[in-house]
Amino acid sequence: MTETGDDRDYVPALGQHWLTPLYDAAIATTTRESKWRSELVFHVNPQPGDIILDIGCGTGTLVTALKSKELGAEVIGLDPDPEVLDLAKAKAAKTDHGIDFVQGFGDELVEKLPGRPVNKIVSSLVLHQVPLEGKRSILRVAYEFLLPNGRLFIADFGEQRTPLMRFCFRTVQWLDGYEYTQPNAEGCLPILMNEVGFTEALEVMVVPTMVGSISIYVAQKQDEHEID
Ligand SMILES: C[S@@+](CC[C@H](N)C(=O)[O-])C[C@H]1O[C@@H](n2cnc3c(N)ncnc32)[C@H](O)[C@@H]1O
Repeated sequence: MTETGDDRDYVPALGQHWLTPLYDAAIATTTRESKWRSELVFHVNPQPGDIILDIGCGTGTLVTALKSKELGAEVIGLDPDPEVLDLAKAKAAKTDHGIDFVQGFGDELVEKLPGRPVNKIVSSLVLHQVPLEGKRSILRVAYEFLLPNGRLFIADFGEQRTPLMRFCFRTVQWLDGYEYTQPNAEGCLPILMNEVGFTEALEVMVVPTMVGSISIYVAQKQDEHEID
């Protein structure tokens, strides 16, 4: 756990700060990253005029991929960890595409991004590192912050359905702690998405990996005018 200037705790990218420089290599070698990330980008399907926010952007791999895919989309990366944001900025600078980075927590969107409505929110490998109440409040704030008909795309360790995947997921649980990770393993994410108001929280892909299965979820904010 790490404390920010405003005294809030968060789990760093790889569980411990001293491991952060190894994050990209660890994710690439253990999670079949190219498979799930390319599938996530496919579902986000960035379009000209989109304003896309990545909650817990980490070292910036996803924001860089999204911006490279569609230069006409505005892409914002948010993360509470200044060290990981520096790595993200360095990665984005290599492409010179212009990505905004903001330091902050996923439930601080109104305070950190005032007057910046977004139509797509993405988040990858973040919610398993957050306590259950934190998962719920990030999803609730994401729902409220999205424009009507806005869409949410999550890639994270989801329900671990087989004994093998539950066994593999123990590595992540050892690094990030049992309390925060276990609700994901029990399949809490789509339930929470529906609870905060998203319609049709769909699990569109499950990727088995050596550290547990990663699920991709897609959900939509209903246009208020369509709600009875
Ligand atoms: C495992 S890393 C994932 C990074 C990146 N999204 C990726 O796909 O590689 C988790 C990130 O979530 C950030 N994080 C932790 N708690 C958070 C919170 N409450 N709100 C937003 N980000 C958070 C961490 O600082 C870390 O960079």
